Amino acid sequence: MDLSALPRTIWSELALANDDRQHPWRTPVLASIDSDGCPQARTVVLRNVDRHAQTLQFFTDSRSPKVNQLRASPQIQLVFWSKTLNWQVRISATADIATEGLEVDAAWELVKKTPARKDYLSDLAPGDALPLKKKQTLGNNHHLAVITAKVSRIDWLSLSYEGHQRAEISVEKLHWLTP
Ligand SMILES: Cc1cc2nc3c(=O)[nH]c(=O)nc-3n(C[C@H](O)[C@H](O)[C@H](O)COP(=O)(O)O)c2cc1C
Repeated sequence: MDLSALPRTIWSELALANDDRQHPWRTPVLASIDSDGCPQARTVVLRNVDRHAQTLQFFTDSRSPKVNQLRASPQIQLVFWSKTLNWQVRISATADIATEGLEVDAAWELVKKTPARKDYLSDLAPGDALPLKKKQTLGNNHHLAVITAKVSRIDWLSLSYEGHQRAEISVEKLHWLTP
């Protein structure tokens, strides 16, 4: 691998993960901080990659706890691991939440054709207690929100029997680090 091309290689791999449901980077862990200052980490599905804008996007339910957490503390970290590549990538970013507008409309056009539509139309919010005798019903309005993560720093770690390698990329500048 041409190491000077590492930023480009990582963004290309992220783009592959966006297109390939089987790619291990398709489901990173998104870590944030809640209102008590405690860490909260959860798996999300990568929904869009824009190298030019240096952004990654995810869909969520606007009623889920993470939405208010991210509005109050938008600094996040995304962790991607691939056994195939033997690469871990930790991406620091700032999250922005959209609950309406063109981007959300376009996202809903995609999601409403899939079984996942039910999640976003449910009358119960994620994390709500599920009443024993009440069935979930579907409302007319969806609760889809788009999380846009603006990337500020990438910490890349490559594991290898020949020697581990690690580098930090901020705004496409590369610094080698001790693994
Ligand atoms: C494989 C997998 C993919 C998931 N994808 C998403 C997703 O794209 N968006 C989302 O909001 N939650 C997703 N979840 C559920 C979250 O991990 C989490 O349980 C949920 O969003 C509630 O998180 P919160 O309480 O921090 O808001 C996924 C879970 C798994 C196991």
